[in-house]
Amino acid sequence: MRNFTYYTPTKVFFGKDTHKQIGQIVEDYGFRKIMVQYGKGSVKATGLYDEVMASLAAHGIEVVECGGVQPNPTLDFVHEAIRIARETEVEMILAVGGGSVIDSCKSTAAGVPYDGDVWDFHSYKASPQAALPVGCILTLSAAGSEMSASAVITNEALCQKRGFGSPFNRCLFAVCNPELTYTVSPYQTACGIVDSMAHTLERYFIPCAPTDLTDRIAESVLHALVGAGKTLMEDPHDYEARATAMWASSVSHNGLTGCGRGDALAVHQLEHALSGEFTAVAHGAGLAVLLPAWARYCYRRDLPRFAQFARRVWDVTAQDDEQAAREGIDAMAAFFKFLGMPTTLREFGVSAAAIDRLCALTTRNGERVIESVVPLDDAAVKAIFESCC
Ligand code: NZQ
Ligand code: ZN
Repeated sequence: MRNFTYYTPTKVFFGKDTHKQIGQIVEDYGFRKIMVQYGKGSVKATGLYDEVMASLAAHGIEVVECGGVQPNPTLDFVHEAIRIARETEVEMILAVGGGSVIDSCKSTAAGVPYDGDVWDFHSYKASPQAALPVGCILTLSAAGSEMSASAVITNEALCQKRGFGSPFNRCLFAVCNPELTYTVSPYQTACGIVDSMAHTLERYFIPCAPTDLTDRIAESVLHALVGAGKTLMEDPHDYEARATAMWASSVSHNGLTGCGRGDALAVHQLEHALSGEFTAVAHGAGLAVLLPAWARYCYRRDLPRFAQFARRVWDVTAQDDEQAAREGIDAMAAFFKFLGMPTTLREFGVSAAAIDRLCALTTRNGERVIESVVPLDDAAVKAIFESCC
């Protein structure tokens, strides 16, 4: 087991009706004037917007609205939100939405006290030394941004989607009511299941010394997500399955499943290139195509680990490690297909002609090799993209 620092400071308010406490929560922290960011319209369609605004008003909280965050949130929107936040001198930022809204808030929060361009953080030219506090009301179980240290933004001018990690990216609080996810479409629900699985699974396959407890936590999270995914495809209003998916989203990306292993997410690097270049690609759907392709490329390099994954997560009984590993990967791919996820890049409209560009974005023109079961250099990344094109 590697040495690790586990820091998960977000206070979680989990369960039915918790969003109705938002006015009280903000007041208890002592904030009087806040910015509220939300997405393209779901919060208004579901009635959540009215409930949140009523609760904030009842506690005398002044609100500066900044709606319209798009999925795969953009730097331009963040620049505008920073300008408004500075001008109105808000004390904190509340995200009401999924990962895109939360990330937009995190990036805004880091940008407000910073003299330069907030893109400096996303392109690793600088690290935040301060940020406004961010809280969230989560409406979609997927990205894990509600508890993660990461914020992912797309710079449309450069066609680059970049996440950066910082303790300042940890939400102060997260309000997680699984009922708010009843209205999430089957497709986005499926994307969320895949993304949460990826956050746990990619840590699980980081090459390192044994981590028996972390392995078993990770395998349980994956098992629970498979069960919740199956239930939710049948009944989107199953509270317990929604609750499992929501808590798994947080636990998958708050650091717990990386204790003793690390937090590097290899397949995510390929997916961020994909959805940064093709911005209509939902992050989870991109991962559903890339994860099996990556696993098939890598598994022979660590057969015992892939066999363990197959036996403990997918209940594979094969005695032979190679056969078990293959059956486990096939079971994972079949589950993603059952969820209605695409199986090839072509289904996103990505042709073979785009692969060189995706490779360059992933490896930053060959400047980096990504840590993975097999280190992912230019040739490896190209082989993976080609195998699922
Ligand atoms: O924009 P609105 O109208 O709100 O609609 C959204 C959006 O179209 C809709 N939605 C959200 N809650 C809903 C709902 N529809 C009905 N009912 C509800 N309750 O769902 C669509 C997708 O929302 P989005 O926030 O984009 O999805 P997700 O939570 O999957 O976030 C994806 C973003 O997070 C990044 C991804 O790269 C992507 O940009 N990630 C962030 C991470 C982090 N900060 O730690 C880690 C992840 O690996 C990921 O990279
Ligand atoms: Zn993800």
